Amino acid sequence: MKNIYSNISKVNNNNISIAINKLKKNEIIGVPTETVYGLAGNAYSDKSIKKIYNLKRRPRINPLIIHYARVSDLLEDAYLNANFYKIFKKLCPGPITFILKKRIGSKVSNSATAKLNTIAVRFPKDKTIKKILKGIDFPLAIPSANISKSISPVSARDVVDEFGKKLNFIIDGGSCNIGIESTVVDLTGVKKILRPGAISAEEIENILKSKISIAKNFKKIISPGSLKKHYSPGIHMRLNQKKSRENEAFITFGKKYERAKNSFNLSTKSDLNEAARNLYKIFRIIKNKKYKLINVVKIPKKGIGVAINDRLKHAATKK
Ligand code: TXA
Ligand code: MG
Repeated sequence: MKNIYSNISKVNNNNISIAINKLKKNEIIGVPTETVYGLAGNAYSDKSIKKIYNLKRRPRINPLIIHYARVSDLLEDAYLNANFYKIFKKLCPGPITFILKKRIGSKVSNSATAKLNTIAVRFPKDKTIKKILKGIDFPLAIPSANISKSISPVSARDVVDEFGKKLNFIIDGGSCNIGIESTVVDLTGVKKILRPGAISAEEIENILKSKISIAKNFKKIISPGSLKKHYSPGIHMRLNQKKSRENEAFITFGKKYERAKNSFNLSTKSDLNEAARNLYKIFRIIKNKKYKLINVVKIPKKGIGVAINDRLKHAATKK
């Protein structure tokens, strides 16, 4: 039998050079980050960006996050402000994405930023992607490596699960440490969180010493990417349930569900960080087991739990 995972390459200097060469030739590759795996392409190249949108089947109105190794590289592409520097100093590299005004004359492809006058930027912490970024002289557009609306990948094999042989090179950096996407914070006007993520609102409030709201973007699309249905295993999902039935999957949290039937426990220790790390992994297992319905218990809405609840809500949406 042919090895379906033959497009996965382990992390070593030779494979990092191969990755860099492919990116220089405007090819798209699968890469690890500390949040989720991504599809990386040259952000300065319209050709690369087009390939990313096509592979992901992503609507062109939904802009990509541009990833950098250093602030000095970003100066050419965005107008930086005081709030940016304050957060950057404390949290970067790390799982936070900033929305900033895009600099006039920036070389970042207009299609990567969906023709907006803003740009999303992030400084990833994962060692492998940092090495790759340091080996090139252009930033990388890196959306999550899943088909639009599907479950985000948290391992190299998940990326193969999404794209099969359509992607010929994926670097295997192991399972993602965080397992849920970066927090997207808009710093262009009244500051707000557009997508809850690994960094909580409280952490940002403590740094900026002022309140920050989380945009209620669930119904109305204010961040182009906050499309309603998303992160979905494609199975009907019921949230805030106390029990589950015979043939239904049951996503649980905490020790009291240890013996529940068909239970997929996000964290028996009731640790929300562990739950975030397990969320997409469990979605994918349940999807592959072909359950018809998923019940989910209530998950505490504190810290990274806010982001877990956000993903569950999107995944449970019908359209
Ligand atoms: O953790 C992450 O952020 C991962 C890893 C791979 O870095 N990337 C990721 O990218 O989640 P993606 O493309 O799946 O999600 C990007 C989000 C979308 O919701 C998009 O709409 C939003 O960022 N976004 C990008 N540019 C924006 C902009 N200029 N204004 C508002 N939202 C923007
Ligand atoms: Mg995504």
